[in-house]
Amino acid sequence: MKIYRYYEVTSTQEVAKKLIDEGKNNFAVVADYQKEGRGRLEREWISPLGGLYMSVVIKKDDRAFMRAGVAVVKALKHAGIEANLKWPNDVLVRNKKIAGILVENYEDNSIVGVGINISHAPLREATCIECEGGSISRDKLAKLIIKGLKKKKFYEDYRQMCSTIGKDVKIIALNGVIEGRAIDIDSIGRIVVETKNGIKKIASGDCIHLR
Ligand code: BTN
Repeated sequence: MKIYRYYEVTSTQEVAKKLIDEGKNNFAVVADYQKEGRGRLEREWISPLGGLYMSVVIKKDDRAFMRAGVAVVKALKHAGIEANLKWPNDVLVRNKKIAGILVENYEDNSIVGVGINISHAPLREATCIECEGGSISRDKLAKLIIKGLKKKKFYEDYRQMCSTIGKDVKIIALNGVIEGRAIDIDSIGRIVVETKNGIKKIASGDCIHLR
């Protein structure tokens, strides 16, 4: 897979879209610094020097977020970090966010955006690889994630890595707020929540771990 490297970009997601518009596919964009890094749910992704900011363009895949979560957790293991996933794909260490994943579908592609804090944690509620005593080069991390994204089997690993299963949660979804016990993640990535009004399956939203 070809890797396009930049020092400064608005967002690697936007660069990836431009390259797709030019007819390219199956590539990755890596930048040292993003001026307008974006997170899920219209949030900002603070992107100073000292992090990995990467967008990997793969064939459209509605389960790319699970594939990516597993790839990132496994890559972090090589850095000496034990991380877990908060549904859908926040990557946590000791309940603090070390990495985030943003998947956007564009034409026939899924653009898998991965941001990993390597030497800085830009927010108090975040952490970083070096903050946790781990170490790895940015290039190695990028290559491990690209390789991991190609794995055919990832669903069982995702369930194992997902710390949301078994927790009481509050899910802020587009059509309302749901509270209950997260009992599983189904094979298409929906969270299965046992609520007072029965079992609900939710495809996307913001998830808060309550207990
Ligand atoms: C999240 O946790 O909300 C997702 C964060 C995703 C950040 C990455 S950094 C590389 C790519 N470019 C962006 O603008 N966002 C993603």
